[in-house]
Amino acid sequence: MCPTIILGIESSCDDTAAAVVRDGTVLSNIITNQSVHKAYGGVVPELASRAHQQNIIPVVAQALKHANVTKNEISAVAFTQGPGLLGPLLVGSSFAKAFALGLNIPLIEVHHMQGHILAHFIKEADLNESNQAPSFPFLCLTVSGGHTQIVLVKDYFDMEILGETTDDAAGEAFDKVAKILGLPYPGGPLVDQYAQRGNSTAFHFPIPEIAGLNFSFSGLKTSFLYFIRDHIKKDSLFIENNKEDICASIQHTIITILMQKLKKAARQTGINDIAIAGGVSANSELRKVLLAESEILGWRIHIPKLEYCTDNAAMIAIAGHYKFLKKYFAQQKTAPSARLKL
Ligand code: KG4
Ligand code: ZN
Repeated sequence: MCPTIILGIESSCDDTAAAVVRDGTVLSNIITNQSVHKAYGGVVPELASRAHQQNIIPVVAQALKHANVTKNEISAVAFTQGPGLLGPLLVGSSFAKAFALGLNIPLIEVHHMQGHILAHFIKEADLNESNQAPSFPFLCLTVSGGHTQIVLVKDYFDMEILGETTDDAAGEAFDKVAKILGLPYPGGPLVDQYAQRGNSTAFHFPIPEIAGLNFSFSGLKTSFLYFIRDHIKKDSLFIENNKEDICASIQHTIITILMQKLKKAARQTGINDIAIAGGVSANSELRKVLLAESEILGWRIHIPKLEYCTDNAAMIAIAGHYKFLKKYFAQQKTAPSARLKL
């Protein structure tokens, strides 16, 4: 039988990415980060769209080359339909549509957050048995720059949001804290790095009391802003002299908030298969705490490899693979959507 070879395209924010997956095994996973945004302290949508236009053809060419696959061998092309920035999404979707039309192959839409979750099903040629995909149903804490959700994953495309943030996302909280500390965008990975050398109990920040399985991070951001402002009034070098302890303490608070709700969701559903996904799942403390809790609570945990935490196209290609098997194809008239529900 012919193998199923999917080309995945991801362009929802500031990374132009393309990947090739054959029968669920990743053959290539190429990402071009856009450095143009660094000077602005955040992603500038118009600049992102223009950079995607410049990057998309070379990134796809590289993905095919690394995979040692020709265009004519591709079974279908999968692209991120949303949510994300509309201009960047339009570049990826237009490319995918033209590619599918030109080769007369199916076109597949993928929800970006479903992609993050389905990244757990990416197979690698050299991976051993211990790295098994989660079995259904499982809970996934999906934490990125735009989302913070606890998702009950019943099947590949049957997902229910049990709780989500009512304001900022966890990644946004990391990035805003970093900005207050004068760190460049995106600050999450830098806060993580400084935190590794700091004392997480040096400073205390409030844990919000939010009903059910929902989250809130905007109050924490405000109290962090006041905390820094008040200390700087007394000591202008407060940040410089305490950066590692500040990062460790605020990171510890964010991870505690996430873990409290994840534990509550596991208790309420009785589900012990627990996964994390999205950019913040790269956080070293979240990964460590999850591992420690799994031993206490008897969870089977699923932590993605670092390259599948932040935005990538292998996650879009694997979601495309499972949609291809179910023949969930899109039409040429499909359009991307900046706000797409899970
Ligand atoms: O999934 P992602 O790449 O893009 C979105 O879909 O939003 O997530 C990006 C987010 C950013 O907010 C970034 O600061 C955060 O993930 N992030 C981290 C770490 N690595 C990325 N936050 C904390 N610790 C990290 N190591
Ligand atoms: Zn993402």
